Amino acid sequence: MNRLGILVLAAGQGTRMRSALPKVLHPLAGRPLLAHVLEAASQLQPRRVCVVYGHGGEQVRGVFASRAIEWVEQAEQRGTGHAVGLALPALADVDRVLILYGDVPLIESATLNRLLQEAADAPLAVLTVVLSDPTGYGRMVRTPAGRVCRIVEHRDASEAEREIEEINTGILVADRERLAGWLGRVGRGNSQGEVYLTDVVALAVADGVEVATAQAASPEEVAGVNDRVQLAALERHFQRRQAEHLMRSGVTLADPTRFDLRGQLRAGRDVFIDLNILIEGEVTLGDRVRVGPNCVLRDCTIGADSEILASSVIEGARVGRQARIGPFARLRPETELAEQVHIGNFVEIKKSQVGSGSKINHLSYVGDALIGKDVNVGAGTITCNYDGANKHRTVIGDRAFIGSDTQLVAPVEVGANATIGAGSTITRDAPPDQLTVSRSRQRSLSGWRRPEKPKG
Ligand code: UD1
Ligand code: CA
Repeated sequence: MNRLGILVLAAGQGTRMRSALPKVLHPLAGRPLLAHVLEAASQLQPRRVCVVYGHGGEQVRGVFASRAIEWVEQAEQRGTGHAVGLALPALADVDRVLILYGDVPLIESATLNRLLQEAADAPLAVLTVVLSDPTGYGRMVRTPAGRVCRIVEHRDASEAEREIEEINTGILVADRERLAGWLGRVGRGNSQGEVYLTDVVALAVADGVEVATAQAASPEEVAGVNDRVQLAALERHFQRRQAEHLMRSGVTLADPTRFDLRGQLRAGRDVFIDLNILIEGEVTLGDRVRVGPNCVLRDCTIGADSEILASSVIEGARVGRQARIGPFARLRPETELAEQVHIGNFVEIKKSQVGSGSKINHLSYVGDALIGKDVNVGAGTITCNYDGANKHRTVIGDRAFIGSDTQLVAPVEVGANATIGAGSTITRDAPPDQLTVSRSRQRSLSGWRRPEKPKG
């Protein structure tokens, strides 16, 4: 008899974002604002989640199409109470309704659980917070004994009421049936002529209900996003919180204000992360990994004791233990490096496997290649993997030595222990254990004279 429904109000136009993108789709830490709210909601394991959408709604629905959400359209915004009233029929099979907001992204499930606890034996519980500057918000009006009487909106409040620092966050839990009853009695006698959800508080009090409250852990947790300035402020708050969590779990961040995580980072012991790092998607760093300054790591795994040097970009790659990558290296999707691989500056690797101990240290492109163990790929080596229509593979055996400035025209295979002379263009397979050179022989012409500029 305690089935929970969650109702997310997201019909706001978001005019102040000045954007073609609906407000709740603007990203915070790489995910839409609404995704953060839905994440907090799902942690409460509700029976049903309903989102009230308005302007740009089709786009919002499209982004969350894979989720089990009841969508309710509010074509015209006639107030928060009107929005809730429209949505209640979609929540007919729940006992309690928790109301959240699509543009209040940092709400934490722990806080919501506390609110739900307060609502365990109260038909109405409101989440509040104390603000030193409560301008603009609805104020919690209480009796001298501290009982909630009503909520008054800033624009409808008296001078004395505006002194109240405890504000309504808008988040509340109510018994569904009683909420429907109260909403039916809410009028539009306010300065905006809207149906205020907040008016249910006074109606509940009139019915003899003692309205429960819980306090948010911080103002940021219940802060809404109305413009891009507020969005950036919440982004910084969120990033600081993530950075603190990582540091407490044993990761050293050279400067937590210059570290951004848009996704999930799993880090082993004594990981060191230098300045200006962006981590996106799912990233795993093994024990003692060191990440140099100005790196981007996206959806990748770095083995223990490996070092990523400055300004490297790694995406969709797996790097083994004790590797050394960069500075200025780029590892692209489906790259797999075994242990102790060295990848140096201005080297790009795509969809290739590189065996343990191999080195590609300078200015190379390696794509669609299978490279064995202890191979040395000289400076400026290029796998010519693309003929304009198809991609072809290059295979290099263990202990091969590829001289500098070699082009490997795929499909082509270099045998184990083979040596390729510098400057070669390899178009046919090079046998194992032999030197293969394809450049023309060097000549010296005696008696040759360099042309001279005419004097005068
Ligand atoms: C509301 C509260 C106020 C509280 C403040 C906290 C009311 C009447 N007032 O004021 O007490 O301090 O939030 O931020 O509830 N929305 C709809 N449909 C509508 C109207 C609003 O979906 O018809 C959504 C908006 O998208 C927004 C949220 O509800 O996400 C709040 O609406 P808004 O009009 O901004 O209310 P506030 O004036 O901020
Ligand atoms: Ca608002």
